[in-house]
Amino acid sequence: MFEHLKKEDSEVFESIKNEVKRQEENLELIASENYVSRAVMEAQGSPLTNKYAEGYPGKRYYGGCRFYDEIEKLAQERCKKLFNAEHVNVQPHSGTQANMAVYFSVLSPGDTIMGMHLSHGGHLSHGHPTSFSGRYFYTVPIELDRKTGRIDYDTLMKLAKKNKPKLIVAGASAYSRIIDFKKFREICDSVGAYLMSDIAHIAGLIAAGIHPSPFPYSDFVTSTTHKTLRGPRGGLLMCRKEFAELVDKNIFPGIQGGPLMHVIAAKAVAFGEALTPEFKQYQKQVVKNSKTLAEELIKKGFDIVTGGTDNHLFLVDLRRKNIKGKDAQEILEKVSIATNKNSIPFDTEKPFITSGIRLGTPAVTTRGMKEKEMLKIADFIGRALDAAEDEGKLKEIKKEVLELSKKFPVYKIKL
Ligand SMILES: Cc1ncc(COP(=O)(O)O)c(C=O)c1O
Repeated sequence: MFEHLKKEDSEVFESIKNEVKRQEENLELIASENYVSRAVMEAQGSPLTNKYAEGYPGKRYYGGCRFYDEIEKLAQERCKKLFNAEHVNVQPHSGTQANMAVYFSVLSPGDTIMGMHLSHGGHLSHGHPTSFSGRYFYTVPIELDRKTGRIDYDTLMKLAKKNKPKLIVAGASAYSRIIDFKKFREICDSVGAYLMSDIAHIAGLIAAGIHPSPFPYSDFVTSTTHKTLRGPRGGLLMCRKEFAELVDKNIFPGIQGGPLMHVIAAKAVAFGEALTPEFKQYQKQVVKNSKTLAEELIKKGFDIVTGGTDNHLFLVDLRRKNIKGKDAQEILEKVSIATNKNSIPFDTEKPFITSGIRLGTPAVTTRGMKEKEMLKIADFIGRALDAAEDEGKLKEIKKEVLELSKKFPVYKIKL
């Protein structure tokens, strides 16, 4: 692998080499990241990057798209089967663009939407003022319950009745509990709103039947393909048949040009992998690992938002430990554990500081780690955060992290 790059562009090669090393040596606990298979990488690195294929299978604006049609149809069919979806568009370049296409399909600028506030687990594209979504649409943010840290569906119903949104987003980037899509539907029905379920984080769990499906309750379901779903970096849009033509038009030519067909080929491979029994097992282990890691951290005196997790991630509330999220992220990085600072509900710290970190288990589970290793990771985290100022101790922990990483190689790529 990389023999041409090594010869022809040593600068880029060096950086890739160093990044591959970092990925092998670090414990990746960023909840939105994962390691794709070699097959996914081969499809994405193929000559399919060479061609324009604007349009959809059978209706392209360029000639020579026969094999591209085959691949896009394969991706669509596999995805439909995976999620039991009526219509699928595999062209969104990212999760944000899938969301944008839905908004542009059924909303006009100035319309009201409701979505979880960024610091309550939502995503920028759910109406945050710095995103197109908050600039084009009037957003009523959904906040979590102050006592439980969970969505309070009765409060949500009242908020919807008061504000009469045209669309409600059900979905999050940092919410560790089951999302009740049926309740979201009831709330939408009570005010005549569309329901868009953004399953970017939990798509793999849903595909494996571990988290309840957003179908048949949702009008639109959007996702990324690169988180728990373990595919290439990209987006996905599913909907009821009645909206098929509308969303397709809003992806292309609405907000995108030519599809990234090499990425769509890689999505097809990832959907194929997600249809296997091994993938189900993998997702079960992801959740088992997440629960084990959370429980072990609680035993070590950490507060976990909502007291635990039902999925692949959770938030650690560091206030009792007197550490800011930013500092915790930096200390853990020193021992080769990758995490991200994250606001906790009703956080009084700025988003660049935060009172929490978000931890997730999809990537370490792909490496083959199980409950036993989660206990070790909890131990590393506890000791590292206690030893914040002690460079010697941090070095020792880093050595132990490296030993564990070496036992669970990711790619075994020789560079
Ligand atoms: C819930 C949710 N929706 C959408 C996105 C956006 O995905 P992308 O980064 O591919 O635009 C994310 C990414 O973190 C997400 O967590």
